[in-house]
Formats: sequence, structure tokens, C-alpha cells
Amino acid sequence: MSTASNPFAGQRVVVMGGSSGIGESAAAAFAADGAEVVITGRSRERLDSAVERIGGRTTGQQVDATDPAALAAFFAELGGVDHLVVAVSGAAGSGPFAGLDLADLAAGFDAKFWAQVRVLQAALPHLREDGSVTLITAASARAAIPGTAGLAAINGALEAMVPPLAVELAPLRVNAVSPGVIDTPWWDRVPSEQRSALFDGLAATTPVGRVGRPEDVARAIHMLAANTFVTGVVLDCTGGANLPTGR
Ligand SMILES: NC(=O)c1ccc[n+]([C@@H]2O[C@H](COP(=O)([O-])OP(=O)(O)OC[C@H]3O[C@@H](n4cnc5c(N)ncnc54)[C@H](OP(=O)(O)O)[C@@H]3O)[C@@H](O)[C@H]2O)c1
Repeated sequence: MSTASNPFAGQRVVVMGGSSGIGESAAAAFAADGAEVVITGRSRERLDSAVERIGGRTTGQQVDATDPAALAAFFAELGGVDHLVVAVSGAAGSGPFAGLDLADLAAGFDAKFWAQVRVLQAALPHLREDGSVTLITAASARAAIPGTAGLAAINGALEAMVPPLAVELAPLRVNAVSPGVIDTPWWDRVPSEQRSALFDGLAATTPVGRVGRPEDVARAIHMLAANTFVTGVVLDCTGGANLPTGR
């Protein structure tokens, strides 16, 4: 039973892409509040380490979010879900538009847009009628940063779906968190010296004076799942980096 200190007790939260970064931190926040948490990812090793770090009533299931049959089997076997968080990522599809490889852009859509859409559709029959869904998009959806038109398209397409889905699927609540730059393993692909310089530069131009941490986004996700009067919202979690400065 849920109590003030354990608001998610008796509830099952599924975090797709919960073995690292933002998803893992969100899973930890729900587990700390008494939820039974199921995290998913492709790598068994990453899942096992994350389950150990998160603790509580957490289990890890290997599911590739781009595989419709695997998703259907996963949700059918799991049964009822109270809250769904979709944090699967992809990195393809960025770069200057003139030379953008459209196969790479399509791969980016597969890894993020289609993966999140497939997860939501597969989960729907198993979601509690008045439960919640939180998608993780990206601030690139509404920024104007050269080289990010592809990422803007992928994340913007997801963000555009949030308001109509919130109405169509009600009383299920549908929201998204749109993070700015967050220091997670997603950035491991950038050499560490280059990454530090990038983060320092971004911190200097961000109102809160730093880049984000996974816990920052986890708190936003937790709030959207917990607050039963919020739906159809895309919540920016950027430290103010996306605010128009008039420059
Ligand atoms: N970090 C940032 O600066 C930032 C900024 C804006 C938006 N975001 C968004 O935030 C979300 C989480 O990113 P993150 O930074 O936390 O990344 P991350 O640390 O790389 O974590 C990604 C998670 O998704 C899983 N995953 C990836 N592809 C998957 C697939 N096909 N099927 C199942 N699981 C999959 C990964 O596990 P496996 O690899 O083992 O499958 C991992 O658990 C992403 O949607 C990302 O685009 C991040």
C-alpha cells in the first residue's frame, strides 16, 4: 500500500532503457519510493550491474526496443504496468544537413522515434487505465543548433505526439521530459578531453552554470508520474540552456 514515505508502493514501473544514465536514475527514484521496478536494455551485463546499483525491488529484462515481437512478448509475460518510462536512446542522425547521410537519419529514427512509438503501442494493453507514460525526448527538438536538424526531427516528432496522445488515451496520462545536455554514458562516444571542454563551454552559457546530471532528469520524470493532474506536457529540463536570450 502506498504511504507518504512510499508513494509508489504496490505499483509497477517499467523503465525501458533503464540500465544506464537517465533511465537508471529514474528507476532508482521509483525504487526508493517503494515501486516494483523493471528495467530493460539490450546488454545483460549492463542490466545486472544497474539492478545491483539500484537495489530495492528491481529486476532487469533483456529487451530490444526496436524489436516488435520481443516487446509484445515482454509486456504479455510481465502483465499489468502502472507507469511506463521510455528512455531508449540513439545517436545516429546528427551532422551538417548538406552532407547528412539519410540512411543514418533513418537509423536515428529507428533507434529512438520508432523504438519509443513501438514500446508505447506494445505496452498500451497492459498499462493501468489511469497510469502514466513518460517519454524522454531532447531539447534539440526545439533548439536551433547547427548540425542538429536530424535530431530535432526525431525528437520533435515524438514531442508532437504528446498532446494528442494525452487526449486520445485519457485517463492514461502521457507526458515527456525534454533534457538538455546531461552527463551520462551516452557521451562516452566523445573522447573525454573533448567532452570536458564541451561540458565546460556549455556550463558557462547555461543559466544554472552547469550541465545536467541524470538525477535532475529523474526528478522531473518522477514528478510527472506522481502528479495525477499533469498530462500532455513536454517538460524542459535543461538548466535554462534552451531559453531565448535575444542573441
Ligand atoms: N545524455 C544527454 O545529454 C541527453 C540529452 C537529451 C536527451 N537525451 C535522451 O535521454 C534518453 C536517455 O539517454 P541517456 O543519456 O541516459 O543514455 P544512456 O546512458 O546511453 O542510456 C541509454 C539506455 O537505453 C538503452 N537502450 C538503448 N537502445 C536500446 C534499445 N534498442 N532497446 C533497449 N534498450 C536500449 C541502453 O541499454 P543498452 O545499450 O544495453 O540497450 C541504456 O539503458 C535518450 O532518449 C536520449 O536521447 C539524453
